[in-house]
Amino acid sequence: MEKKIAILPGDGIGREVVEAAAQVLKQIEASFDHSFTFEYADIGGGAVDDYDDPLPAHTLDICKRSDAILLGAVGGPAWDHLPGEKRPEKGLLRIRKELGLFANLRPVRSFKSLLHSSPLREEVIDGVDVMIVRELTGGLYFGEPRERRTIDGEEAAVDTLVYKKSEIRRIVQQAFEIARLRTQKVISVDKANVLESSRLWRETAEETAKDYPDVELEHMLVDNAAMQIMYDPKKLDVIVTENMFGDILSDEASMLTGSLGMLPSASMGSEKPALYEPVHGSAPDIAGQGTANPLATIASSAMMLKYSFGLQRESDVVEEAIEQVLSEGLLPADLSRDKTSAASTEEVTKAVCTHIARLA
Ligand code: NAI
Ligand code: MG
Repeated sequence: MEKKIAILPGDGIGREVVEAAAQVLKQIEASFDHSFTFEYADIGGGAVDDYDDPLPAHTLDICKRSDAILLGAVGGPAWDHLPGEKRPEKGLLRIRKELGLFANLRPVRSFKSLLHSSPLREEVIDGVDVMIVRELTGGLYFGEPRERRTIDGEEAAVDTLVYKKSEIRRIVQQAFEIARLRTQKVISVDKANVLESSRLWRETAEETAKDYPDVELEHMLVDNAAMQIMYDPKKLDVIVTENMFGDILSDEASMLTGSLGMLPSASMGSEKPALYEPVHGSAPDIAGQGTANPLATIASSAMMLKYSFGLQRESDVVEEAIEQVLSEGLLPADLSRDKTSAASTEEVTKAVCTHIARLA
C-alpha cells in the first residue's frame, strides 16, 4: 500500500517522539511491504520563529496533500509572551478548523504491566478500555459572542455555548460507527437538566440512534460521568460528548492508566486526512534529554494505520509490540519506579521495532 504521511514535529519533545513514531512506521513499511512517503513540515513555536506564523501556508498544503498527519506537540515558555494569533496553540486550533477535524478520539486502555502506576486500585482499572469521542470544533471554545462587557457597572466576561444540530449529528454518528467496531454501546454525556444546548444534543442523539439499531445508546449527565470514570471505568466503552466536557473528561480518564506518556489521540473529519498526535504537550522540562516516553506517539501511529489506512493487522502488531516492551520491563522514566535505570526514548523505540519485526 502506498501512503503519504505529513510529519509535523512541532516543539520540545514533539521532535523526539515524532522521530520515534516515524521509525516505527518505517519498520511497518519494511515488515509488511508497504510504501510510505514522509513529508516534514513546520508548526508551532518553531514556525513562528522562522515564518512568523504558527501554521505557515506550506504546512497546510503538505497536510492537505497527505493521506494522514502525524503531529508531535507545540508550545513552550519561549513563546508564552506572544499575542493570541502568534501563539503556537493557535497553529493547532487552525489546523483542526482548516481540515474540518470535528471528532477527537481518545482511547484509554490499561496495560497489565503498568497497573501499579495508576492512582486507582488495580482491580478497578484492570481491563479498562474506554474510547472518548469529543466534539472538537464547536461549543464553548468557539461560540460567539465571547467578550468582556460591563454588566451592572462591573467588569464581566461572556462565553457562548452553541451547537447546530448538524454538528451534533455528525459527531454522534462518528461515535456510533466506532461503537460498531467495539462493544456496540454508546454513552452520550451532556448536562440536559440545565443546558438548552444539551437538550438539543440529547434529542439529536436519540434521532441519530434510529439509524443504528444494533448500537445501544445511554445518556449520562456530565457530573455523574466524572464520578463513573473513577468509580467503575470498566463499565464504560464509547463516550461521546461536547467540546469542553470532552476536554475535561478525557483528561480525567487519561489518569486511569497512570501516565500522560502513554496516551494517543486521533482527530478526524468527514474527509481525509485525519491527524494523529499524543495527548501530552511539548514537555519543555525534559526536552532535548532523550528521555521522553515515545509510546503515546507510537500508539497514535497505530491508530493511523487502523483508522486512516484500514491496516488493522499492522495496527494490532504495533500495539502488541508496545505491550511486549512494557512487560519486559523496558520502561521510560515517566513509568519507571527507578529513574536511574529507566530506558531512553531510543531504547524503547528500538525495542518496539524489534518486536514488530518478530511479530510481522
Ligand atoms: P506537558 O504534557 O507538556 O507536560 C506535563 C508533564 O508531563 C511534564 O512534567 C512533562 O515532562 C511530562 N510529560 C509529558 N509528556 C511526556 C512524555 N512523553 N514522556 C515523559 N514525560 C512526559 O504539559 P505542560 O507542561 O502543561 O505544557 C508544556 C507545553 O506544551 C506548553 O507550552 C503547552 O501549551 C504545550 N501543550 C501542547 C499540547 C499540544 O501540542 N497538543 C498539549 C498540551 C500542552
Ligand atoms: Mg486538555
